[in-house]
Amino acid sequence: MSSKLAGARAPATRIGTTLAMAVAVALLGGCGRSEADTSAPAATPAAADGSINPDSWPQVEWPLKADPEIEKKIDELLASMTLEEKVGQVVQGDIASLTPEDVRKYRLGSVLAGGSSDPGGKYNARPEEWLKLADAFWEASMDTSGGGKAIPVIWGIDAMHGQSNVVGATLFPHNVGLGATRNIELQRRIGEITAQETRTTGMEWTFAPTVAVPQDVRWGRAYEGYSENPQLVADFARAMVEGLQGKAGAPDFLDDRHVMVSVKHFLGDGGTSNGRDQGDTLATEQELREIHAAGYVTAINAGAQAVMASFNSYHGTKLHGHKPLLTDVLKGRFNFNGFVVGDWNGHGQIPGCSNDDCPATFAAGLDMAMAPDSWKGMYETTLAAVRDGTLAQERLDDAVRRILRVKFLMGLFDKPKPSERALGGKFELLGAPEHREVARQAVRESLVLLKNQGGLLPLSPKQRVLVAGDGADNLAKQAGGWTLTWQGTGTTRADFPNADSIWQGLERAVKAAGGNAELAVDGKYKAKPDVAVVVFGEEPYAEFQGDIANLLYKPGNDADLELIKRLKADGIPVVAVFLTGRPLWMNREINAADAFVVAWLPGSEGAGVADVLLRKADGSVAHDFKGKLSFSWPAQATEGNVRSPDYKALFPFGHGLTYADKGDLDALPEDSGIDGLHAAPGVYFSNAMLAPGLAMRVENAQNHTAQITTVPARLHDGSIEVTAVDHQRQEDSRRFAWSGTTPATVSVYAEPAVDLSRETNGDLLLVLTVRPDSIPASGKLGISAGRGQPVSLRESLAALPAGEWTTVGVPLKCLAHAGADASALDVLLRLHGDAEAALSVSRVAIGAVSEAEHIVDCPRGE
Ligand code: BGC
Ligand code: BGC
Repeated sequence: MSSKLAGARAPATRIGTTLAMAVAVALLGGCGRSEADTSAPAATPAAADGSINPDSWPQVEWPLKADPEIEKKIDELLASMTLEEKVGQVVQGDIASLTPEDVRKYRLGSVLAGGSSDPGGKYNARPEEWLKLADAFWEASMDTSGGGKAIPVIWGIDAMHGQSNVVGATLFPHNVGLGATRNIELQRRIGEITAQETRTTGMEWTFAPTVAVPQDVRWGRAYEGYSENPQLVADFARAMVEGLQGKAGAPDFLDDRHVMVSVKHFLGDGGTSNGRDQGDTLATEQELREIHAAGYVTAINAGAQAVMASFNSYHGTKLHGHKPLLTDVLKGRFNFNGFVVGDWNGHGQIPGCSNDDCPATFAAGLDMAMAPDSWKGMYETTLAAVRDGTLAQERLDDAVRRILRVKFLMGLFDKPKPSERALGGKFELLGAPEHREVARQAVRESLVLLKNQGGLLPLSPKQRVLVAGDGADNLAKQAGGWTLTWQGTGTTRADFPNADSIWQGLERAVKAAGGNAELAVDGKYKAKPDVAVVVFGEEPYAEFQGDIANLLYKPGNDADLELIKRLKADGIPVVAVFLTGRPLWMNREINAADAFVVAWLPGSEGAGVADVLLRKADGSVAHDFKGKLSFSWPAQATEGNVRSPDYKALFPFGHGLTYADKGDLDALPEDSGIDGLHAAPGVYFSNAMLAPGLAMRVENAQNHTAQITTVPARLHDGSIEVTAVDHQRQEDSRRFAWSGTTPATVSVYAEPAVDLSRETNGDLLLVLTVRPDSIPASGKLGISAGRGQPVSLRESLAALPAGEWTTVGVPLKCLAHAGADASALDVLLRLHGDAEAALSVSRVAIGAVSEAEHIVDCPRGE
């Protein structure tokens, strides 16, 4: 998560690539080999005022010429549909919030399964359960007993790196790793396999590929993008669409062995300021066209059936309401005649809209609103909007026509239920050995070698190999976000039946060659090894939970670095294998290790790592390194935007060593330039210190106020007193004591104000590590943020054992509902008391539900 505590940065809109690349190459000295970077629009930038001139956009050919037979069928069907049936086609609900009965009753045209939505609410539901539910939705959509028309439902799912919501599926590397392979044909094959595995469980539609061109890897979704380079994204996008859907014009196009795509997220998701999820993209129109749109041009030209609108804004206008881009460019210039699907309640973020009510999004060009939990409201309000003329009937008809066109192109009107289609129920395809072999090849080819001091690699498998680090035998870390659960967290090894960890691959190969392999996650070996492979990296994340404020790796936690150093101190050569969704500032780890390999988020086939690191038993090299950086690798932790004039690359786009290269590196500078407190954004108070930019003040009802710089401190009327107390360290905490004589508050102010709207939109909490010392039986003890009203804490705190430290979470949504404007919080939190009370606090931070032992009840049940 990220807040803007580090201070607002000027939006980076300058076109600086050519320059930045030149600087990067110059800085590189001897250690870089790189491909030519073609990511620049080199011409002079036009003014970036957010205006769109559709005529400046290329004409794209959607290859599916209007088929008169299909158009006639659509005409007939449209003419016979009621208004209710039409609206049912343009609203998509989530399986966690609707039943087959709802599909039957409301004649809904599609359903989705969000990242955390599963049959029976079980993240590890069996493939059979998915397929059974798919049949039930299909049967409901085809049931005409109530008088409706039979229009087959389509089910969309985030099959983003394989059919990654389903236990046992082949898990391919995330796109960041695929981009590093540079292997377009392999990507096509991955698309084909993903389509087949998806079809086994009944879905005919994936929310992929992501064709974002991330310019700032602080964005938590950077790993979903193939590259910072638009040409590379364009090439992969075409191959992936052709793999998933089949080739337009070929007899097997969109048949039962393929799935339709949604190319996402249109447009500019990879260009938001500071890499903020759902943020504002301030690119020029030229940058938008030449960088961010690159993947749409090839995907649409390959016959993409759907495009997903993005959460981000373009110069302040939310894409879900952006008519020039959704209609004039995408449908007009790009000649896209499939349909535009929205993103998760994305329409609700348009000013004047709510999740339940948004005719404006359809007017702007959206054809199907993704209304996961809000589908019923959207259904009713859209119906009303067409009835009263707010939304033009022709626009609704056009949207329905587009959705029906896709259903006809897929031949769905003639298909049996999902389980009776060609691949329905063929679960032996999930994680089939030949599929896993392709994934393993992708892992091998995605590995990027950054350092190989003294030619340590490749390793002889005949020696004693220690495998250490918490990524060594950890499938969740290998797979990253969008795996079984939304954030990829909360899974166990048993959820990955068709998978090898990196350790398993190494162990098998070393043993087969007569060597000796030992796993010790903490590095505490039983027998001294000849060499150690330390596997470590980022914890899984998705969407905004992966946003970071700078490029530090695990700020405040040097455990992995210390592990490498400890082994080195024992005289053991170390190969570092880094699992990550993005390049980070790793100078210290690169210095400490003899060899440094970036494995990205490889997925289920950890054995691909051993294939490259180890020689064959006969001493020959089995597989050399092929991976080349698809994102620049930063020289500094302070700047993540490759187009910023401040950005400096350590290794440029295209860099990656092979065994033929000399892999020695001189020591890299180890000062990140970021102080300890900036390092951990989202932590407001810890170890007796407030984060930079924050101040603590006490105030009474008469507006007397005192800033707390040292303790003890008290307001002159004695209404509130602040003292130092101990939790984990001496005086690391603060105790707030209210006298009860007059109401008083203690507040944490932010200057400049902090934008927590994205965090509030999710399920995050303000997590306080507290010790209820003395909680009154009545009176007020509450918490607020911004200008909001206090939410009561008294009942929650009174229920806890007095004098014991614990963690209490206040949902950010709670504070917003009480009136806090999450987009501009000048007061991060305020504790209010009007009775005698005492509460100690040792830490205040933004955190996940799992980080709080107790969660405060919200008014309005949120
Ligand atoms: C994400 C999309 C995803 C959708 C459905 C959204 O929050 O932005 O990429 O396809 O959820 O899970
Ligand atoms: C869903 C995701 C979705 C996200 C949006 C989650 O609960 O599972 O699919 O993208 O919410 O914030």
